[in-house]
Amino acid sequence: VVLVVDFGAQYAQLIARRVREARVYSEIVPSTMPVAEMLAKNPKAIILSGGPSSVYAEGAPRLDREIFEAGVPVFGMCYGFQLMATTLGGTVDNTGAREYGRTPLHVSKSGSTLFEGTPAEQSVWMSHGDACSAAPEGFAVTASTDVVPVAAFENDEKKLYGVQYHPEVLHSTHGQQILEHFLYRGAGIEPTWTTGNVIEEQVAAIRAQVGDKRAICGLSGGVDSAVAAALVQKAIGDQLTCVYVDHGLMRKGETQQVEKDFVAATGARLVVVDAEKRFLDALAGVSDPETKRKIIGREFIRVFEQAQLEILQEEGPEVAFLVQGTLYPDIVESGGGTGTANIKSHHNVGGLPDDIEFELVEPLRQLFKDEVRMVGQELGLPDEIVQRQPFPGPGLGIRIVGEVTKERLDLLREADAIAREELTAAGLDREIWQCPVVLLADVRSVGVQGDGRTYGHPIVLRPVSSEDAMTADWSRLPYEVLARISTRITNEVADVNRVVLDVTSKPPGTIEWE
Ligand code: XMP
Repeated sequence: VVLVVDFGAQYAQLIARRVREARVYSEIVPSTMPVAEMLAKNPKAIILSGGPSSVYAEGAPRLDREIFEAGVPVFGMCYGFQLMATTLGGTVDNTGAREYGRTPLHVSKSGSTLFEGTPAEQSVWMSHGDACSAAPEGFAVTASTDVVPVAAFENDEKKLYGVQYHPEVLHSTHGQQILEHFLYRGAGIEPTWTTGNVIEEQVAAIRAQVGDKRAICGLSGGVDSAVAAALVQKAIGDQLTCVYVDHGLMRKGETQQVEKDFVAATGARLVVVDAEKRFLDALAGVSDPETKRKIIGREFIRVFEQAQLEILQEEGPEVAFLVQGTLYPDIVESGGGTGTANIKSHHNVGGLPDDIEFELVEPLRQLFKDEVRMVGQELGLPDEIVQRQPFPGPGLGIRIVGEVTKERLDLLREADAIAREELTAAGLDREIWQCPVVLLADVRSVGVQGDGRTYGHPIVLRPVSSEDAMTADWSRLPYEVLARISTRITNEVADVNRVVLDVTSKPPGTIEWE
């Protein structure tokens, strides 16, 4: 494993992904973890991420010097670079020499481990206030900028490397190459981490965890739960029963599709529970988004417990495990990462009630979304499942701004079906990450349809492009497609007289409206 030490910026996740793109397994650890504990994980290399602090600020995160003396190759980026510099006796000054954004880098030494084979001039992404003016003893300075004399240093003997910039972002034109140079040449790691390995490893881990007990898996219709279920099915076969809870918050035709596609692909046993009334009763009168999420999360577990009882009565042996398709970003975003704020309680992490009776099996909790898709493909799941756009567990319940009722759900289902149909027809499914369709149920505006004045609801289209849902941009959809969607929704969906487009990136907006 390669450890990415997180100094509190969002860069650590991106670094971890880039390392995996280099086919090397990586994990994020908080900078507050004692160095001895990091070393106990036997890392093949350690990467120190950037962070928002100045190394001179009071309370700025530090690392025990031991991390540089354990013989483990270390690569410092930005804050990590400055920390390495100051800890090992180099000089970092607050010179007022700031650099933000795209910056030309001058590579000053041939025979560099990091830069060999890359151009002498390259574009890199900078974001710093302090600057390193002298490298620690024993380090060769291998790059500079117009402003910073020491923008990269290397100590091949001790296997310590650092760059002032952010090689993990795409604006650093040779960033991935430099990261790979560190991993392969600096640290001597072989690029062997593949989705095939993940499957093997997880299958073994699931068998060890579950033993001869039984597991149930909640299928949501999304990629994550389907891949998690297929993986567990591969590991324990008939000991797994999949349960699909129709909470009444699904999109049009979704339940039927899950039944058909998933069972055909995996041969897994699937029980469909119709729980619409139960969810709608529990949600009656509730408009607050976090409360809705908590209720949906709670009801989900309750329905599973009931399904467990029923399966128990039928089959005897105890169902002790619950399979969930929790991903790495879910864990980090729910505050499971380091110092990362709790942005929303995702129903499959923060929203679980305390008295849960299952032990969780989460075979995807180390993976990013694109990796989950690769695993699914490798497991033989069809494109209709693997390439499906993300859909939140709480479903349309968090796409109705206001109280959730059956009537409003039906209305939203119609509008959503039209938007999806037109986006698919225009061939845009792969281009966009997802397109939530949102009903502003408590808002009405005046319109005119036919000869009469109307007073209907607006529908919001929220098409976004994204790499991992951590950040997103609004998709520039062709006007003709937007026009078709708008015309059809206002014509075909009663009580909707306006369609609006959300043109907010994430941040500051989240992808979903709730
Ligand atoms: P936000 O709205 O936080 O969404 O920008 C990021 C991604 O996560 C999905 N999402 C969820 N998925 N349970 C899920 O399984 C949830 O509670 C949940 N909330 C948001 C959202 O659709 C987007 O892809």
